[in-house]
Amino acid sequence: MPEGLLQAEDVTVRFGGVVALDSVDLEVPSGQIVGLIGPNGAGKTTLFNVLSGVIEPNGGRVLLGGTDVTRWPTHRRGRAGIARTFQRLELFDRLTVYDNLLAAWEGVTPGAVLGRHKSEGRARVAEVIESLDLGALATRLAGTLPTGQARLVELARAIVTAPRVLLLDEPSSGLDDVETSWFAQVLGQVAGARDGEPAVLLVEHDMSLVMEVCAEITVLDFGQRIAHGPPEQIRNDPRVIEAYLGAEIEPEGSAIEPEGAIAP
Ligand SMILES: Nc1ncnc2c1ncn2[C@@H]1O[C@H](COP(=O)(O)OP(=O)(O)O)[C@@H](O)[C@H]1O
Ligand SMILES: [Mg+2]
Repeated sequence: MPEGLLQAEDVTVRFGGVVALDSVDLEVPSGQIVGLIGPNGAGKTTLFNVLSGVIEPNGGRVLLGGTDVTRWPTHRRGRAGIARTFQRLELFDRLTVYDNLLAAWEGVTPGAVLGRHKSEGRARVAEVIESLDLGALATRLAGTLPTGQARLVELARAIVTAPRVLLLDEPSSGLDDVETSWFAQVLGQVAGARDGEPAVLLVEHDMSLVMEVCAEITVLDFGQRIAHGPPEQIRNDPRVIEAYLGAEIEPEGSAIEPEGAIAP
């Protein structure tokens, strides 16, 4: 088992009488895409928020590369290499795609407004736009993009800072099957591309997306970790099947192949 780049240890979160997370462990090893799934209300977003620093847990720890970051605010975690996207898209609608990426880079780079750094930022933005094939969208206002493209831009914005860990909250939300499959392909290309970084935690309710791209999957149900393992094992785990009773678990090989880039 490789060492966890990002780890949650024994994390508990209570909202009044609701135990949203009950002593949950999670490990995101370097170079891997780890899936976090579970039915609605299982605690996925809560754990995501604990990892990114939006909420402090009532108990347990969050470790980044072995350092305890449990009490660090979001911006400090951002500088230390934790990048995130949102279940609800949160791009700057009135900025171009290019400027959205540049703003993200400046947000984590001390002294970013200085000339020398500025050119460094521009070079990094250009590199990411090129690698995700977003050149045609660079001058578009983010607010004018359809959801499929906006999700890719959001991914681009998250990796422009060269994060060590990338946290994605339901990136398939609002996407159709073809767009989801395309997103999965781009994600596979991004994950671990720089020396095993970024490692990725993919929070998703779309079981088939997670099965397609993840090396390991953790399953939550009512705030508890009920299973952890590779997709094959998860797919056949009786507790997981029971938790998802009524929801559909897609059979293997059913993913729709994308026919090309997401159309404008
Ligand atoms: N801010 C909050 N206040 C009170 N209860 C909350 C809050 N956020 C989440 N919960 C509750 O915690 C549980 C887990 O929610 P959540 O983490 O959003 O689940 P998921 O993302 O898996 O759907 C649910 O019972 C939810 O109602
Ligand atoms: Mg959620």
